[in-house]
This record gives sequence, structure tokens and C-alpha cells, in this order.
Amino acid sequence: MRKIFLYEANKDICNLIKNAIQNEFDDEVKNASTIDEAVKEISLGDYDLIIARDKVQGSNDSVHRFIDSISSNKINSKLIAIGNVESEDPVLIAQLPEKFKMTELIEVLKKAFQQIEDSGANDYFEVNFDVLRLLKRTNFDLFSRLRSPGKKDQYITKIAKDAEVKGLSELESKGVKSLFIEKKLRLQFTNDLVSQVARGMNIDFNDLQEAMESSESVYRLARKLLSIQGTNEISYRLINCLAEEMIGNLKKSESELGNYILSTIEHTTSYSFKHLNLISAFVFMSLPHLDIMEEKKNIYLENFVYAACFHDIILEKEGMAEIHTKKDWLECQFDDSDKNLIRDHAKLASELLEKFPGAKKEVIKIVKEHHGVPSGVGFTDRKVGSLTGASVFFDVIHDFVELFLNFPPDGSLDTMLKNLEESYQLSIYKDYVGILKMGIVDAFKA
Ligand SMILES: [Fe+2]
Ligand SMILES: [Fe+2]
Repeated sequence: MRKIFLYEANKDICNLIKNAIQNEFDDEVKNASTIDEAVKEISLGDYDLIIARDKVQGSNDSVHRFIDSISSNKINSKLIAIGNVESEDPVLIAQLPEKFKMTELIEVLKKAFQQIEDSGANDYFEVNFDVLRLLKRTNFDLFSRLRSPGKKDQYITKIAKDAEVKGLSELESKGVKSLFIEKKLRLQFTNDLVSQVARGMNIDFNDLQEAMESSESVYRLARKLLSIQGTNEISYRLINCLAEEMIGNLKKSESELGNYILSTIEHTTSYSFKHLNLISAFVFMSLPHLDIMEEKKNIYLENFVYAACFHDIILEKEGMAEIHTKKDWLECQFDDSDKNLIRDHAKLASELLEKFPGAKKEVIKIVKEHHGVPSGVGFTDRKVGSLTGASVFFDVIHDFVELFLNFPPDGSLDTMLKNLEESYQLSIYKDYVGILKMGIVDAFKA
């Protein structure tokens, strides 16, 4: 099954095209209503073909926007334009007139698919070893690539379909850097990867220790891939899956949140992961005390967990996410470019998140403001009153988790919360400490 993206403003025509493609080819067709959303949706490169009407609501540059996105994101999608477009770019493989019959479209598509297949260059899709390590079993043949100058690349089966995924380290020691799957199976591969990964993190199938360890490895991998490749489909799917499983696990652990917190601390090694998992747990505890409508609480939780997963994701080196104040930042031992990254990370992470299809405005805002600074650049010793309630609460829980992770053995939670409250000047910050406190008292009383 191929993936096709359709940009067509007229709903009726859009449905006609979708139905025609699905009937004829059984391919998946998605669409978006605005050009900005559409360009964002295709930017991860998971569409084989884009069909785009050039002239929409008076402006006729949508095809060029797609061409620019394909080239700047270095993705392999091909393009068919509806309406006459002047371009010599090779990604534009066919054009349809403004008005056309569905039979014409089907003919153009058949030729386009043949052309994509014949070009051969995209027959295989490279999969990094770290991604393969998340799989227990492969439902696909995994190939290695043999390259010799002047000859066509050869692909040799290394791990056959339905086999256990093992021996990767041995291959790696022989200099193999990655394996390949057939490109036409890419979509099934990512679906399969995500369902295997989700199962590993789900506490219905694993104990808390295993679920925590799997979740941490998924986080680390998504972070690593983002730092190497920028926005990419696998990181996007992994983070979505991580956030979903975390929310599910929290709900299932409602009566034993103490245990959930203890497992986070005991069974994970990275500060960033402990920190994001605890932020999620503490917001979950506080939900009953938040002054928002009952039916909105689930969305509030989702937004928080997504923001927690994303907020420090570009700080790949351990220790970076532990810097929370101007003083920490001035005194830290990182080199200048790392220091700049630390200073700007909230802004940069929000910009990265913005590139992900379906990213929500509320989450982007929380990520940007998570150190209490509206611009997302630098740290502050004096909180400002202009942040949204959700950003303030995130900042409060974020500060609290920092104290909690450094909890002295003889310390009391009560004193910690009191100190936190006293450290704030603004009443909105103090109020949120009160909500957090009620959540904690309830959770630990049970
Ligand atoms: Fe953080
Ligand atoms: Fe941060």
C-alpha cells in the first residue's frame, strides 16, 4: 500500500479523488485543509506521492511550496500538479488540467507509479540499527547493501521475515552500519515497529520495571534520531507512542502512584527521562484539584505529557537538562555552542515541535515557556505574570521535580513544598503549588 497526500480545497472533488484512488489502487489517501498544514504533513517524507492543486483561494503557488519542502527536507516524495505549473524540477512528474475526469487521473497515476517503480532508486529504505534493536521479531526481510563503483547496488537478505532480530552487534562489528527494507513495505514496517514498541512499554504486558526501561530506551532513541536527522517519521511516531503509553500507564497505576514514582527513580538512568516521567505523574495526581471542566481534564493531561516528552528533547547530552537557573548556566562546564543550545533550548524545542504534523498550539506554548520565560530563551530568577496557566503549572511542577529528585533522605515533602511556595513572588505560582500539594496529599494518603 502506498501513501498519497492530496491537496484540494474543494471538498466534493477531494472526496471524488479519494474514492477513485482507493477503489482503483487501495492506497491510503490523506489531505489537509490549509497549505501550511499540508506542507507540514508531508515534511516527514512519509508520502510516496503528492497530488496538489496549484490554484487555491486565489493564490497559485502551492505546487512550488511542495517542491520547496521536498527539496529542503531532502525527502523522496513525487508530485503531480493539478493546473498548469511552470517548473523543470524532476520531483514534478506529471500535470493534470484544472478540470479533469477521474479516468484521466487514474491513467496519470498508473504512469506515475510505474515511473516511481522504474526509477529504482527508492526501492529500499534504510533502517538504523538502534531502531531495529527495538524489534523482537521482524515481519519483513532485512537486507544489507553491497555497493561497488559503477555497478548497481545489491541487496542481500541478512535477517529473514518472521525471524528473531538478533546478531546485530556482530553485523555492526563487521562494518555494516544499517539494514534495509523494501520501500513499498515502509508503512507496514513503521506500524509494526510502533505496535511492538508500544507493547514493550505497556504495563498490561510487562512489570513496571520493564515498562520504565523500555520507555526510557524509546525516549533516548527518539532524541538521538532527532539530533541526527532533524524531524523524521520514526521519532515522531515513537514520541507519540511513548506519550500515549505513559498516559495509559498512569491511568492504570492510579491506585499505586507511589510505586510508579519509585520505579521511575529506581529503574531508569537518565535524568531527562526521570524528570519527564515525574512531571507527568505529578500533573496526573493534581488533575482532580484543577479548576477546569471535568471533560477537559483528559486533554489537559495529554498536553502536559506531550510537552513533558518534548520540552528538553534537544538536550541530548546528559547534564544539559539539569541546568535550570542563570547561575547553573553561567557556571556549567559545557563548551560555547552547547551553552547556546542550553540557553535557547525551550525556543528551539518548540520550533521543532511546530514542524510535527498535528502539533497542538497549547503544547508548543508550554514547551516554549517551560522555564518561565515567554521567549523561550534563557533562564529567569524572577517569574513573570504573563504566561498561560498551563505554562505556569508546568514550570511549578518542573521546579518541584528538580527538588524531588534531589530529595535529602531526611527531608519532608511538606517542607519542600513550603520552600517552593516561598521561592515564588507571584500569587498564580503560589496557587499552583497549592494544587500540586493537594494532589500529592491525596495520592500518598490512598
Ligand atoms: Fe526540564
Ligand atoms: Fe528545559
